[in-house]
Amino acid sequence: MRFFVTAEHEKERLQYFASPEGRNDLYQYNQKERRTVLEVLEDFPSVQLPFEWLVQLVPPLKTRAFSISSSPLAHPKQVHLTVSVASWKTPYKRNRSGLCSTWLAELGPEERISIPVWFSRGSLPPPSPTLPLVLVVPGTGCAPFRAFVAERESQSTSEATAPILFFFGCRNEENDFLYRDFWLSHAQSGGVLSEEKGGGFFVAFSRDQPKKLYVQHKMEEESQRIWSLLSSGAAVYIAGSSTKMPTDVMSCIERIVAKEGVVPKDSAVRWLRALEKAGKYRVEAWS
Ligand SMILES: Cc1cc2nc3c(=O)[nH]c(=O)nc-3n(C[C@H](O)[C@H](O)[C@H](O)COP(=O)(O)OP(=O)(O)OC[C@H]3O[C@@H](n4cnc5c(N)ncnc54)[C@H](O)[C@@H]3O)c2cc1C
Ligand SMILES: NC(=O)c1ccc[n+]([C@@H]2O[C@H](COP(=O)([O-])OP(=O)(O)OC[C@H]3O[C@@H](n4cnc5c(N)ncnc54)[C@H](OP(=O)(O)O)[C@@H]3O)[C@@H](O)[C@H]2O)c1
Repeated sequence: MRFFVTAEHEKERLQYFASPEGRNDLYQYNQKERRTVLEVLEDFPSVQLPFEWLVQLVPPLKTRAFSISSSPLAHPKQVHLTVSVASWKTPYKRNRSGLCSTWLAELGPEERISIPVWFSRGSLPPPSPTLPLVLVVPGTGCAPFRAFVAERESQSTSEATAPILFFFGCRNEENDFLYRDFWLSHAQSGGVLSEEKGGGFFVAFSRDQPKKLYVQHKMEEESQRIWSLLSSGAAVYIAGSSTKMPTDVMSCIERIVAKEGVVPKDSAVRWLRALEKAGKYRVEAWS
């Protein structure tokens, strides 16, 4: 850009950014603030970058992965996604929003549009109908489990299915209790999340009271039921977008195994490692 800049003050700033002394400020300006190419060009309006240079310099868009949140049994020939619009504030308090999720959210419900997609195997394989499950889900992490619950519901009409204990966490009951009616209807009598079928649905609203309430708190309350299901061969599946969540949930399950199995902490840790090795402790997390 310095090569194509005409205004003197812009040239000085670009020279500073390209110098060893300007490295930290460049990092702050560029990476920390996540400026787009367009925003940078707008900050330096005298830069006359030839179009062919621009095309060569701008990287192609990255692909984005989304968990499939529908069951092929319940919705043949459809693929549903559950997408949270990523939004955050930069260190300089600029509002930012994610490119792909914002774009998807702006599409109208009736809009028909071609998007290139691909499919790849995720880290949460569909469980067999007879595998009891402990599902732990903060926020959009419920995407794959909506598919699991719908699949098990369809399977339960023709064969015996194992129970599911479902722990769901979100910020507010009012704003982001995703698929509320879906979970609640399956938790009613006879549903795959119902107590009658050995299952359960527990929800933690983190911001509806002064003190944070997370899925772990609900799990501690239900520790006996979790341990009883784990002892009968259940698998634990965890999904979500929080960076600290997977380790916090694992520590919580370690505490539950230690308390309810009446074993020392290190034995509980080994027990969970064995569960993981057997492919029965699985996490799909993104940040
Ligand atoms: C296996 C897998 C499954 C996934 N499943 C789902 C799903 O089911 N639903 C879903 O909504 N998403 C899912 N994701 C995440 C999804 O792929 C995208 O990353 C997400 O939608 C954001 O994309 P975007 O284009 O909107 O944001 P982008 O434009 O890519 O911006 C996101 C970028 O902003 C940064 N960022 C985000 N928040 C902050 C913050 N608070 N502070 C600082 N920087 C921040 C991140 O580092 C990231 O690089 C999944 C990811 C993986 C890997
Ligand atoms: N604008 C909005 O209203 C809004 C709402 C939802 C999502 N979003 C956007 O969508 C993105 C992803 O959203 P999401 O719904 O998947 O996730 P999320 O809302 O960021 O998190 C889901 C739940 O997990 C809780 N949580 C945070 N840390 C945890 C931990 N260590 N252990 C257990 N639970 C934990 C959160 O509580 P706390 O966050 O209260 O700590 C929240 O209740 C967000 O980063 C945000 O950009 C925006």
